[in-house]
Amino acid sequence: MDCHRAGSQAKDKRIAGLEKHEIGKGDDPGGFVRDDLDNTVRQCMDCHSGGIQGAPKAVHKGLPPRHLKKLACQTCHIPYREVKAALIQDATHFNPAPGIFPPPKRIWTFYGPDARPWNYYGELHREGNKFQRVFTFVPVKVWYKGKIWPVNRVHSMWVGIIRPGVPGIDMVFMVDFFKLWKAHYDHPMTNFPALSKIRDDNGDGVPEVNRPVEIKALLGVVEKYLKSQGKLSKADRLVLVKDAAYTEDGVHWKTLNKLPWEATPYASVFKFSHDIYPADAALGAKGCTDCHSYKSSFFMRPVLVDLWDAKGNLRYEPNFKLLGYSKLAVDAGAFRQEILEPVLYYGFIFRNPNEWLVLWNPGLFATLLLPVLPFGLF
Ligand code: HEC
Ligand code: HEC
Ligand code: HEC
Repeated sequence: MDCHRAGSQAKDKRIAGLEKHEIGKGDDPGGFVRDDLDNTVRQCMDCHSGGIQGAPKAVHKGLPPRHLKKLACQTCHIPYREVKAALIQDATHFNPAPGIFPPPKRIWTFYGPDARPWNYYGELHREGNKFQRVFTFVPVKVWYKGKIWPVNRVHSMWVGIIRPGVPGIDMVFMVDFFKLWKAHYDHPMTNFPALSKIRDDNGDGVPEVNRPVEIKALLGVVEKYLKSQGKLSKADRLVLVKDAAYTEDGVHWKTLNKLPWEATPYASVFKFSHDIYPADAALGAKGCTDCHSYKSSFFMRPVLVDLWDAKGNLRYEPNFKLLGYSKLAVDAGAFRQEILEPVLYYGFIFRNPNEWLVLWNPGLFATLLLPVLPFGLF
């Protein structure tokens, strides 16, 4: 409640003094619940500028001010996340993993932040809710409303129906989807034998519907089944939706409109604010090279950008591309902080420490000498 203040405790005019269970909230990019009250929660600086409740003042000596304008506090102060988190939700086939109960859950396959298959429902059934597997992972960085934020962008794949005059794409009812897969699973030779074409192409232990022949087989079977149930009209079109694209034949893809921070308009983006790490763990605590380096987890870390191609490979790109930075700008920053600054620093400190301290402050020296390349130029 210190953060999510309510009623007479709240400062924000939108909720202050309203004793109506109106609780200060954040801003969830994946939801539309009371967007009019977005960010009525206390902001980090409400406490960390004035020292409320003994909060240490955030000073950030030596950090060029541009960073605080462009980066959310959370981006540096949540360098890792340790939670139960799915990166991919795949609802295109029957999940063969052990222990999944009740059976209808088999139409979902989850993948952890490492993009490895994760038997979420099997675990849940075996261990109950008390067992909480957590993944430790580096969040993806995306632009959200003018700042870079740490997030989990969930990816998804499923079978949908485009109905004339109806906006968006409907998902095939999961009960229908389960029934047809179950029928096939019980008697593969007689019930929907075309589904046997779907197999594991990348050897990770679960099948994926990625090759055109698999996609066509699946859509054909779903069409046949739904028609037999009277649930598909002549004008309806069945499609496979994969992240921000869909296809009717597995060969030609059309792109969907999505917001820049999303992987797809049809799955959530979780923006992180909880579990702030101690200041010592923040990005930048070990130096500017935490980000400005050739191997930084910030700019260089590969992030998932598209699901399985026809060969079964996931597509990754370094995070800087997702952020819209050029390789040149990122390399220039890495060169400046990783190579140039140490050279200048050690070169001078050994000759005359005092002079260096006064005159040759390495940051100042580097800034004066170097064409400091603003990202915007590239
Ligand atoms: C309600 C007031 C409040 C809000 C809001 C708040 N903090 Fe804090 N924060 C504190 C207090 C108090 C401490 C000191 C806790 C302690 O010493 O045990 C603290 C500690 C910290 C520390 C640890 C400092 C250290 O020495 O390791 C960091 C980092 C931090 N906060 C960042 C944030 C960020 C980022 C946000 C916004 C997401 C935030 N805080 C929001 C009150 C707040
Ligand atoms: C570029 C990364 C970065 C950003 C952005 C950033 N911080 Fe920090 N922060 C650090 C680092 C590194 C430290 C530890 C070294 C230091 O104190 O300068 C730190 C220290 C702190 C501390 C501890 C201060 C102390 O003396 O104990 C607090 C509190 C804090 N930050 C809050 C914030 C808040 C609030 C914001 C957003 C307005 C923010 N930080 C944005 C990297 C960052
Ligand atoms: C959390 C990662 C992070 C850390 C830590 C960090 N930076 Fe940056 N830095 C960035 C990002 C992102 C930009 C681009 C901001 C923008 O879009 O304008 C940037 C831009 C800059 C720029 C502007 C010129 C350029 O390369 O485009 C300078 C100079 C810079 N940083 C210096 C530093 C120094 C010095 C430190 C250490 C005190 C530091 N940075 C620490 C992420 C970081």
